[in-house]
Amino acid sequence: MKPLGPIPAGFEALDGELGIAGRTASDWAAEAGGTPLFLYSQDLIRRRVAMLRQAMPERLRTHYAIKANSYRPILELMRALVDGFDIASAGELRMAMDAGQDPALISFAGPGKRDEELELAIRHGVTLNLESEGEAHRALGIGDRIGITPRLAIRVNPSFELRGSGMKMGGGAKPFGIDQERVADLARALIAAGAEWRGLHIFTGSQALDASAIIETQANVLDLAARLTGEIGAPLTHLNMGGGFGIPYFHGDQPLDVAVVGSALSDRFETLPDELTETEFAIELGRYLVGEAGVYLTRIIDRKESHGQVFLVTDGGLHHQLAASGNFGTVVRRNYPAVIASRFGAEPEEEANIVGCLCTPLDRLADQALLPRAEVGDLVAIFCAGAYGASASPSAFLGQGPALERLV
Ligand SMILES: Cc1ncc(COP(=O)(O)O)c(C=O)c1O
Repeated sequence: MKPLGPIPAGFEALDGELGIAGRTASDWAAEAGGTPLFLYSQDLIRRRVAMLRQAMPERLRTHYAIKANSYRPILELMRALVDGFDIASAGELRMAMDAGQDPALISFAGPGKRDEELELAIRHGVTLNLESEGEAHRALGIGDRIGITPRLAIRVNPSFELRGSGMKMGGGAKPFGIDQERVADLARALIAAGAEWRGLHIFTGSQALDASAIIETQANVLDLAARLTGEIGAPLTHLNMGGGFGIPYFHGDQPLDVAVVGSALSDRFETLPDELTETEFAIELGRYLVGEAGVYLTRIIDRKESHGQVFLVTDGGLHHQLAASGNFGTVVRRNYPAVIASRFGAEPEEEANIVGCLCTPLDRLADQALLPRAEVGDLVAIFCAGAYGASASPSAFLGQGPALERLV
């Protein structure tokens, strides 16, 4: 038997089923016209953003990294709830603008920005977080050619990393950002070339649950930003401090204590060095804002046994739930939180594997889990599906196509 991850708060039993936003899982599936189906709870997202804002210093802005979930209704909701969007491509820029986001509130990070992407961003006044000197050169050239002053920030590759993070994006040789030793020279050159200086972006990693690691990193980020600002010799208008706030996916994971992080940051903000007193600060978060608000529903279409093991074969799979299958950056596969949604709260009776409908051994949604006995037609729910589910899974694989999505 292998344990399942913890079910996020906010989901309750309703008429013997999993209840989501006041209705049963099977009700939602019927209304949407079938499964597989992602349901995202507005209420849980609103509550999460409110709780975060409550915990963080008022001066800190909250940005949403739309890579986590770019479903249009989610973008429309998030636009109203947060202070800006972080994007990673021209495709995401179009999605953000289609959802009504003001491009002046968008920043664009990511290596390998094509000239067309740089141009689109510059034309709309999006802040570019530059990832290399070459990209800086191209952005300045494009700005000159089209007669628009580009809004440029530098993404710094710091010498430190976010301790304990699931994905490290700073420290050592990285394709992201510009090594901290070379940042001041480039910033001075950008300012001299007439660009609008939009400051620094320091993103060190994601999926950290340890408050002390985040506190330590934020302190390092502030120290580094102050030092670089001194070297650059121009006021730091904006500092994007990165994010990294994680959510509990696996058995034994403890939720991040954001109150502790917020109170440490408030203390730091009380004693900022001169270089940072006028700076506008932001954090950018994806999964923390939307991850736990999402559930993926998939229906059991076959129940079979092999060598004494039970397999519940569903109509979904890794093509919508790459991360839950353990194939999105995890070293050891562990079970996400999962339940038989149509028998929520029923006593567990048997050990079973929940698999998808793809013809690959990678397509496993729960491995040797203790579950109520489930039959063909039952619904399975995979939790923590609000981030990096639909947006980060290969839905075209084997001709399957995307899942349905609903914001409820
Ligand atoms: C630059 C940048 N910003 C934000 C994020 C969002 O991370 P998370 O969803 O863990 O908050 C990522 C994730 O890789 C990132 O690379």
